[in-house]
Amino acid sequence: MAGNQRDGFSSKLGIIVATAGSALGLGNIYRFPCEAGANGGGAFLIVYLGIALLIGTPLMISEFVIGRRARSNPLGAFRRIEGRSRSPWSAVGYLGVVCAFLILAFYTTVAGWTLGYLGKAAAGHFSGQGLEQIQQQFADFTGHAWLPLVCQMAFLALTALVVVRGVKDGIERYSKILMPMLLAIMLVLCIKSLTLSGAAEGLRFFFWPDFSKINGQVLLSALGQSFFSLSIGMGALITYGSYIGRSDNMVSSAVSVTLADTLVAVLAGIIIFPAAFTFGIQPEAGASLAFTTLPMVFQQMAGGYAFCLLFFVLLVIATLTSTISLLEVIAATLTEELRMSRARAVVVGTLGTAVIGMVATLSLRPDSPLRLGGSTAFDLLDHLTALYLMPIGGLLIVLFVGWRMGRADVMDELSNGGTLPLGLRRGIVLVVRYLAPVAIAIIFVSQLVG
Ligand code: TRP
Repeated sequence: MAGNQRDGFSSKLGIIVATAGSALGLGNIYRFPCEAGANGGGAFLIVYLGIALLIGTPLMISEFVIGRRARSNPLGAFRRIEGRSRSPWSAVGYLGVVCAFLILAFYTTVAGWTLGYLGKAAAGHFSGQGLEQIQQQFADFTGHAWLPLVCQMAFLALTALVVVRGVKDGIERYSKILMPMLLAIMLVLCIKSLTLSGAAEGLRFFFWPDFSKINGQVLLSALGQSFFSLSIGMGALITYGSYIGRSDNMVSSAVSVTLADTLVAVLAGIIIFPAAFTFGIQPEAGASLAFTTLPMVFQQMAGGYAFCLLFFVLLVIATLTSTISLLEVIAATLTEELRMSRARAVVVGTLGTAVIGMVATLSLRPDSPLRLGGSTAFDLLDHLTALYLMPIGGLLIVLFVGWRMGRADVMDELSNGGTLPLGLRRGIVLVVRYLAPVAIAIIFVSQLVG
């Protein structure tokens, strides 16, 4: 397909909105507190911030560079830039598409929970309930015979409906107004959490770094979490980069998105940890952490019913803009590489995801045989993608942009039609060539060593 025939974002705001839509989601509100809680709180936070800024932003820019240069899905992008039909770098594209399937599969499990919790919020299931009852509700819901599956499939169908309609009409329009609203409601929740009796203890846990807790495992968890949260390391942003206009400033877009994404994750921590310490929920509670603390906070608020309902509406939408970006990778690849129609590509991608997704969801039932050495299929998919495939993909992407792509091409893309100063461009190239790959490699090795 010729470059000028592709659909694209209508403006620079469009890129930021769509990329932020992809980045903001369950990764910030559900997975980040989970990881921070399991990896020592403050120590994790500080490592996370460093990695997001020093590795995350340059990697995001690198994906945009590849996507806009090639104007293609991740599979075709490496081939096009290499200028030949066979290149070993295409493996990075394949890795990305496989990764999109795997992430979407377990991500829609939790996405389904948000739909279920939206229903519970509407029905007023949380009002007047104590901690034990709220915890029981989570166990009952996720352990239910068919409800989580139905919710997951409904979420997947919703995603497919938006992706069928294409980039501009679908993705851009839905994200524009709703993300700022989510931010606003999170600010309200923060204020409430800060007035709870366990606030000081919660904040201490979240912000006070105990450096003795930092080890290879914490570093890798933070790396995986930052890649997951920023949607980087598997080509989702190569795909979005391919829709960016020639003279739009993708460097400032990447910086804005990283900052917004980090802000929302930190806000989630400020909401969840004070609440956890107030109500006596372990910060290491894992999957149930967000889904038990949040209903407890709403219960303590004036107008809690309405706030809770609004929050879950917005969370569903934030999650939807993330699942859209994952399905879009699959859809763009199938339409451009296998010449499927968009509708057909979406159906194929959705059905493929549904099969793996079902396994992920069923594996969380208490009596499920879908476990391997104590880990559920859900956990395995999460760890495989966030701790292995995305760091490896990210490493290969920065190596490709730093060492394999023509330096003149990279500088040209970074200049965004001549608007970015030369010094800044050189700085970015240095980080992409040296700092980012070395840091990713060290973290990877340190974790293997122990
Ligand atoms: N970043 C999203 C979140 O934090 C999830 C997500 C969307 C994602 N697209 C992705 C993760 C691509 C990895 C790769 O919820």
